[in-house]
Amino acid sequence: MRIILLGPPGAGKGTQAQFLSERYDIPKIATGDMLRSAIKDGSQLGIAVNKAMNEGKLIADDVMIAIVQERIAKSDCKNGFLLDGFPRTLVQAESLTKAGVKIDFVVEIRVIDEEIVRRLSGRRIHPGSGRVYHAVYSPPKKPGFDDETGELLIQREDDHEETIRRRLSIYHKETEPVISYYQDLAAQDVNHAPYYIYESGRGPIEQVRDEIIKSIDSIKQQGA
Ligand code: AP5
Repeated sequence: MRIILLGPPGAGKGTQAQFLSERYDIPKIATGDMLRSAIKDGSQLGIAVNKAMNEGKLIADDVMIAIVQERIAKSDCKNGFLLDGFPRTLVQAESLTKAGVKIDFVVEIRVIDEEIVRRLSGRRIHPGSGRVYHAVYSPPKKPGFDDETGELLIQREDDHEETIRRRLSIYHKETEPVISYYQDLAAQDVNHAPYYIYESGRGPIEQVRDEIIKSIDSIKQQGA
């Protein structure tokens, strides 16, 4: 199964990606995590993208398209994958279509801007695994430390209010057209057009998870 998760920064894509990847046994490909890991390793890519990421700006399309094409060509993706954070522009979305990459489900998680600011300012990350917590909504068992490894949690450089608002503004301008792109494809009902699923991301994490899984499974059953 091939799934794309769309939604503004902080909508809960990373949180839900973790559940969906386990449920459908497909690798989670999170472009933000890949870039942060390149920065941590001090690779050429990491050095090139560090400043733009910290400022909440998008990385160039050609760079992102090359990274994703290389990743989805790996053997663990042969039964599917879940894309979290890609495509983020129309050029990126069209690159998948042009390359003949068939997508089964596009899931949009929608949350209003003020809630996003609340969520991202309280978010804490385990850098080794990408596990996501929130000081109030999804707290770790021991404040400040990862549940599984006991390692220290961090706050992302781009999770400060001014940068969060810039990321939201870029999302509305650059990424919302990607939603229309997939809605149009789904409406055309052409062969292999992905199913488009809308999910309100406002409820509790488990409720959002259950609703997405219910939608996917019910479409799968109808198709079976
Ligand atoms: P990326 O890492 O992809 O960040 P993002 O899209 O901005 O998304 P986030 O990771 O901030 O949020 P999320 O939706 O995953 O929410 P989460 O589950 O963590 O990208 C970072 C940067 O990389 C970009 O700005 C850009 O520079 C670059 N980049 C990446 N891909 C690119 C591309 N394709 N093209 C160009 N540049 C690219 O949840 C957020 C918080 O809310 C957590 O604390 C969580 O616990 C909590 N939460 C989640 N769900 C709920 C809920 N239902 N109720 C209450 N709290 C909740």
